[in-house]
Order: sequence, then C-alpha cells, then structure tokens
Amino acid sequence: MKAPLLQLDEVSLSFGGLKALSNVTFRIDAGEIVGLIGPNGAGKTTLVNVCSGVFRPSHGTVRFEDHVISGMRQDQVAQRGMARTFQVVQPFPAMTVRENVTAAALFGGGIRHVPEARKFADEQLEFVGLAPHADKSAANLSLAHRKRLELAKSLAIKPRLIWLDEVNAGLNSDDLEKTLHLIRSIAARGITIVMIEHLMKVVMGVSTRILVLKSGTLIADGLPMDVIRDPTVVEAYLGGHYAEDGSRRDV
Ligand SMILES: Nc1ncnc2c1ncn2[C@@H]1O[C@H](COP(=O)(O)OP(=O)(O)OP(=O)(O)O)[C@@H](O)[C@H]1O
Ligand SMILES: [Mg+2]
Repeated sequence: MKAPLLQLDEVSLSFGGLKALSNVTFRIDAGEIVGLIGPNGAGKTTLVNVCSGVFRPSHGTVRFEDHVISGMRQDQVAQRGMARTFQVVQPFPAMTVRENVTAAALFGGGIRHVPEARKFADEQLEFVGLAPHADKSAANLSLAHRKRLELAKSLAIKPRLIWLDEVNAGLNSDDLEKTLHLIRSIAARGITIVMIEHLMKVVMGVSTRILVLKSGTLIADGLPMDVIRDPTVVEAYLGGHYAEDGSRRDV
C-alpha cells in the first residue's frame, strides 16, 4: 500500500478539563477530497490547529509525507507543503489584497523575487475570483471575499495538502455551483483537500470520503453515501434536519 500523505495516530488534545480531541486516528491519501463534518464544538478547527502547528497534541503523532510534524511551528508546517485557511479570517488589514497574497508567496511559497511573487499572487486572485479587488485594502472586503482571500493566501504557499475551514461561509446558495467548481479546480491542480463545510450539498457533491467528529471523537470514516446513512452519524449529528431537506445541518 502507498504511504499516506497525512497520518494521525491516537491524537488527543485537552484544554484544561475539556478533551477537545480524543485518540483521533485516520489517514489521508494524495488526491482525496475529504469532508470533515460534525456539530459545533466537535473539535474540527482544533484538529486543523493540531495538524498545522498551532497546537502540539497532548498525545499521539501527526505525520505528513512520512515526517512527524506534530510539535513543529506553523511556518515550518506551511513550508513543508501543508496549508490551512482560518475560520476566523486573519488578513493583514493595512495591506492590499494583492500584498497579502504576495507576502504568502514570498514567506511560504518559496518565491524569492517580489515581481515573481506578485505575478503568482495575481494568478491565485484570478483563480479564486478576487482579481477585481486586488488593489483594495484587505480591511474593506466583505466576509465572503475575506474567505476567498484566505483561500488565495493558502494557495500561494504552493501546498500539496490544504485544509479549508468553512471557506464558503457567507456565500449564498447561488454561489454553490461556483464553490463546487472551485473545489474541484483546486483538486485538479493536484492538491489534496480536507474540507470543513456546513453546506451538505457541497460536502456530498465533492467529497470522496467523509470523516465525522463528535465531542472530539472520530465517529465515522467512510464513503459519503455510507456515512450519511450511518445511524450513529444520523443520531449524533445530522438528526432529522438533514433527512428532511437533504441539504444542510442546523448552524
Ligand atoms: N484555544 C482554546 N482554548 C480553550 N478551549 C478551546 C480552544 N479552542 C477550542 N476550544 C474548545 O474546544 C472545543 C472544540 O472547538 P472547535 O473550535 O475545534 O470546534 P469546531 O468543531 O470547529 O466547531 P464549529 O463548528 O463551531 O467551528 C469547543 O468546546 C471549544 O470551546
Ligand atoms: Mg470550527
């Protein structure tokens, strides 16, 4: 069997008395589009934080391309080729949209020359649909556009794996097709995706596999059609709401 791109073994993390992650074990292979779902407070963002170097797990290991990365700093993880977007967006507000993405290309993407980094940044802005806003101050973007900026910054580090943490929040359902297209286009660039997403139509539309977290525990890991029929998942997370309209969970 091929070595996994990302492998978590028995990863746990506590905040004081709260066990935010409990013995989480899974693998992600190159080329997958994995949906990570679970109720509010399930530990999804904490999992991204543990994998991307924000937190060191209290127990267990994270391996990326066969190197143990748990314990590394965020910039070291990024330079190894793992990117993440922030659920609570964090642009440099005093900089323009283009400058934000150029900085990511310079510091995380390994591009040494500013004009080349700027050109690469413009390509990412075009890709995410933000090109018309490139000269705006990042502070003046709408929430949906700030999410797109997060995505462009993540792509600018030239990742092999990207975590998308609710990158579509703030978009209306008219944008659904565009969203699906964008995620598929990222995958087509050869980037493996782990996507935290509350729109079930998006999750079901693009995921090759779904992981479900509940109270810090991985309660399901399987094909989308199997996972959403799994009684434990229906009971713990989707409840009657998904069954009724087939579209989204309560948020
Ligand atoms: N830095 C922190 N310090 C203390 N507790 C935290 C911290 N970060 C998260 N938590 C707690 O850990 C649990 C998991 O939070 P997390 O943000 O990972 O959930 P989530 O699944 O991303 O939820 P949501 O769907 O609302 O984004 C919650 O109980 C949260 O309050
Ligand atoms: Mg979260």
